[in-house]
Amino acid sequence: MILIGPFRQLLPMTGLSLRGPLSDARLPILKNAGLIVAKGRILEVGGFATLEAKALKSGMDIQHVDGDFTALPGLVDAHTHICFSGSRAADYARRNAGLSYLEIARAGGGIWDTVSRTRAASAETLAALTVERASRHLKDGVTTVEVKSGYGLSVEEELKILRAIREASQSTASDLIPTCLAAHVLPADFRGSSTDYLELLSHELLPAIQKEGLCKRVDAFVEETAFSASEIAPYFTRAKKLGFDLTVHADQFTSGGSALAVKLQARSADHLEASTRQDTERLAKSKVIATALPGATLGLGCAFAPARALLDAGAALAIASDWNPGSAPMGRLLLQAAILGAAEKLSHTEVLAGITFRAAAALGLEDRGTLEKGKQADLVAFPTDDYREILYQQGSLKPVANWTKGIRLSSNKAINS
Ligand code: NIG
Ligand code: FE
Repeated sequence: MILIGPFRQLLPMTGLSLRGPLSDARLPILKNAGLIVAKGRILEVGGFATLEAKALKSGMDIQHVDGDFTALPGLVDAHTHICFSGSRAADYARRNAGLSYLEIARAGGGIWDTVSRTRAASAETLAALTVERASRHLKDGVTTVEVKSGYGLSVEEELKILRAIREASQSTASDLIPTCLAAHVLPADFRGSSTDYLELLSHELLPAIQKEGLCKRVDAFVEETAFSASEIAPYFTRAKKLGFDLTVHADQFTSGGSALAVKLQARSADHLEASTRQDTERLAKSKVIATALPGATLGLGCAFAPARALLDAGAALAIASDWNPGSAPMGRLLLQAAILGAAEKLSHTEVLAGITFRAAAALGLEDRGTLEKGKQADLVAFPTDDYREILYQQGSLKPVANWTKGIRLSSNKAINS
């Protein structure tokens, strides 16, 4: 058992609704607070003086935090593609010179380029690259990272990537949540139709994934250059029957994916830059989490997802980085969430909810995203006594320390064990 604190401000992110707008006036802030952790879980959160008296009485260890620090739940990035090899700097240059993302994809660049490089890499190399990226995220306070496959696009290559993600998760303190995105695009070397490819995934890949316990989530890219909603529907229905959770790359360039997400009760519909008013209203009436990916907006130079409209209609809004070599190479969750907040006029509470408990909900994880009794002891501390500095500094205020399952990662002299 260990007591951690005192934090000048501790934002437990509790008592806030999963859906709809959140005003800063309702954000709970505990002053001079601490938390007691045992076996990786939070036992108690409260005023530091009271908890310290308890700790001294029982001989509990105390990890003193000496400084003006604000603690938040460890950040959750609910959408990434960080298991890849190679760079797409050439695509970025071409796009900025005037070619569109879709034109580059149609000309054989884009995702397929990364598939070739990822296929050429060994599982060990991919695991090492994933660990490196997850470690950078961890330094930015991101303690849970969803990681998609989708750059293998054959049964064996997709399995290789999912195995690499599993291997990576054993070498990092962050929790990596794997997702199968074999339905990313129709592979250029596949002999057959989209339906044939999706049938192959249904009958060979998904059972093999289950046999090895490699992941519990299935994603698909519903888009003109990828798969149509009617092609994905039977694949998703089969995945659901097998017990997989569903998530969709939806409405990125054209509307259509989010309606499928609602129809098949996916956990989340992600992107939504091209969502219509009808789409946002449909999402708001459903249980699907709407995940905005401002990193893709910044990478492609296109519109942000209509985050304000989604919240006002009553949707649950998560914000994720989409870190990938093509559309979102930056991989800075906090910076991107802060910028989405400024562009879409989101309250600090809405932005922070989008990268903590609402993001955890997008992954179906009930054990994190808030700081309260029973939750996994994942937290991040920023060097400020006013939480508003965190988004105000748009990602340039870096964490001084973070803890995963109660274990401190960054060594900072202000925090003594
Ligand atoms: O989320 N939209 C599809 N998939 C990724 C991009 C992947 C890539 O370009 O490599 C995305 O933006
Ligand atoms: Fe993506």
